[in-house]
Order: sequence, then structure tokens, then C-alpha cells
Amino acid sequence: MDVVTPALNTYMHQLLPERESVLAEMEEYARERRFPIVGPLVGNFFAQIAGLIGARRVMELGSGFGYSALWFAGVIPADGEIICTDGDEDNRRRAEEAFARVGVSDRIRFHTGDALSVFEGIDGDFDLIFCDIDKHGYPDAFRAALPRLRPGGILMFDNALWSGRMLEGDDSPDTRGVEELNRLAFSTPHCRASLVPIRDGLLLCTHQPD
Ligand SMILES: C[S@@+](CC[C@H](N)C(=O)[O-])C[C@H]1O[C@@H](n2cnc3c(N)ncnc32)[C@H](O)[C@@H]1O
Repeated sequence: MDVVTPALNTYMHQLLPERESVLAEMEEYARERRFPIVGPLVGNFFAQIAGLIGARRVMELGSGFGYSALWFAGVIPADGEIICTDGDEDNRRRAEEAFARVGVSDRIRFHTGDALSVFEGIDGDFDLIFCDIDKHGYPDAFRAALPRLRPGGILMFDNALWSGRMLEGDDSPDTRGVEELNRLAFSTPHCRASLVPIRDGLLLCTHQPD
């Protein structure tokens, strides 16, 4: 099921400005290998949201080869920090090459390993946390991440509409993970959630504790 009709998707993409060369190359690399990156519509949205809240410290759970992190890197200040995680060492290597080419290595740390285990071992709160790990891990990621936001911070999950699989009777662990995430996000006290229907759906949560 398409979250956005192909015609409207094309329309939105053709409105976007050209990406700088490293981002454009990463999009091409992802296309050739069918690697699931967030893509430019979501990346552009990330840059807008991170800029709006003045994000300085960003945590990514599931960074792939660094495409989504580069969008954040474009708007956080030079003394800000992005912490990336991925289970795949090759992704880390490729990401770090890209960060160096863009000149933002000084503000990004990349940890290889299970994203939630790495996250647990890192101190402090975050302005923005973005999660894109395997979808069956989303509910645990939500529980771990929400309390780590500074007041007014933002937590986002990609693929939160999951091509509508939850409406088609799919009972896989990933689909159940997305369903549970959305239920949690909309029913947790002090959490305000919105599902933004761009690409495969983005869940955006804010946390305002007492
Ligand atoms: C959808 S891709 C990430 C794409 C990236 N956010 C982007 O848009 O550029 C998901 C990545 O998460 C990693 N991953 C999935 N589950 C993970 C986990 N539990 N811990 C660490 N990495 C994980 C995979 O290796 C994969 O590279």
C-alpha cells in the first residue's frame, strides 16, 4: 500500500532543491543496492525540525551508512554532537568516509553494535533522537528513548506507517513492532505524537514531563 500516491511523491521530490554531491552520491548508492535510507523528503524534514528546536545533541539508532545523520549534521552547530549507531562495521566505515568528505567528522561519533545497548552506555539527554532500527525493536527503543529527551525534545521513528502492512493482517514481528510503537506513542502520558505521512510515515513524539 502506498502511503503517498506515486504521482504526489514524484511531485514532492521534484520540488526539492538538488542535494550537495556527497548526499546525492549516497542516494545513488542506496538506489543501486536497494538500501533503505530515509531519502531527501524525510532528510529535509529532519533538517527543518532539528533547526526549529535548535538541536545540538542528536542520537541516531540505526544509522546505516550515514545518510540521515548527514542531514542533521547540516544544521547542528559546529560544537554540537551526533551519535550514530549501526550493527554493521562496513556501514560505519562508509559513513565515516562520507562525514570526512563533507567536513563534519568533528561533530559525529559512530558506534558499531546493538543500537539500544550502545545507547544505554551513553550518558546525558538529547535534543533529538531518531530511530530506524529493525522494526520489532521499536517498542523497546521508544521506552528507552522517551525519558532521555530534554524537555521539548523530539523523538522520531521512520517507517511508522510501514506501507500499511498492519491494515493487511500482517502478523510479522516487525509489523507488530510498528503497531505497538504507534499505540504506545499515542497513549503514553506526557507524550504527544503525530504521524506524518511522508515517504513511509514518520512518527514524531514530544515529551513534556511534569
Ligand atoms: C533503514 S537502515 C538505516 C538508514 C539510515 N537511518 C538512513 O536513513 O540513512 C537500518 C539500519 O539499522 C541497522 N540496524 C537494524 N537493527 C539494528 C540494531 N538493533 N542495532 C544496530 N543497528 C541496527 C541496520 O544494519 C541498517 O543499517
